[in-house]
Formats: sequence, structure tokens, C-alpha cells
Amino acid sequence: MRLRRKLFRLKIPLPQITFIDADGSRRQFEAMIGDTLLEVGQENGIDLEGACEGCMACSTCHVIVDEEWYPRLEPSSEQEKDLLDLVFNLERTSRLGCQIYITGELDGLVVSLPREHLNLQDG
Ligand code: FES
Repeated sequence: MRLRRKLFRLKIPLPQITFIDADGSRRQFEAMIGDTLLEVGQENGIDLEGACEGCMACSTCHVIVDEEWYPRLEPSSEQEKDLLDLVFNLERTSRLGCQIYITGELDGLVVSLPREHLNLQDG
């Protein structure tokens, strides 16, 4: 929180991130640089469980990145790709929210939530 206040005082704009729910409703939030997309969602009441807390074991942080934004993200690791192969509702632009780190360049990022998440830790 102190960093947020400092950035505000320095008039450094925080990246704006838009989440689109499965029902199509859109919500936009300010995000702290360095946080993960999962953390941004959780801090703002978005339905992203993050059961494994970013260890790439559950896939409950699955998001679908807007087509325009997908190529601007850091590429997925092989471990992330392997986990994504197992998720419900896989799309070409699917990513794990715990693996997307917010940077200033991601101001305006738009992601959608899939209709359901699968917790791969449940066996
Ligand atoms: S929080 Fe479990 S894979 Fe992202």
C-alpha cells in the first residue's frame, strides 16, 4: 500500500487491467507493477482461486487474454504450456494468471475468465 501511495504522489499512473466475467460483464482495476495478474484479480474480488498460490500445479488462475494483448505478453514457459494443455475451455490465448507479471507496458490489458476452472490438484 505504501508503494501505491508513493506512486500516486509521484503521479506515476498505475496500469489499468480489465477483467471480463464469463457473463460478459467488464470490470477495470488499477494494478501494481510487479504483482501477478492473479494477485490483481484476487485483491479486487475476481473469481480466480489460485489454489496452488502460483506454483503452477492447479490451473485455477486460468484466464483468456484478449487477442490484441496476447502477443505483447512474455511468452509462456514450457511448464505453463504443459499445465494449460490440461485446462477446461482452453483457447489459443489462454494463460495462467499467476505467470503474468504486471508491467507498465500492460496498461490496458484485457483478459476474460473461462466459464469454469479445473483444479488439477484435486486429482
Ligand atoms: S495459481 Fe495454481 S497454476 Fe496458477
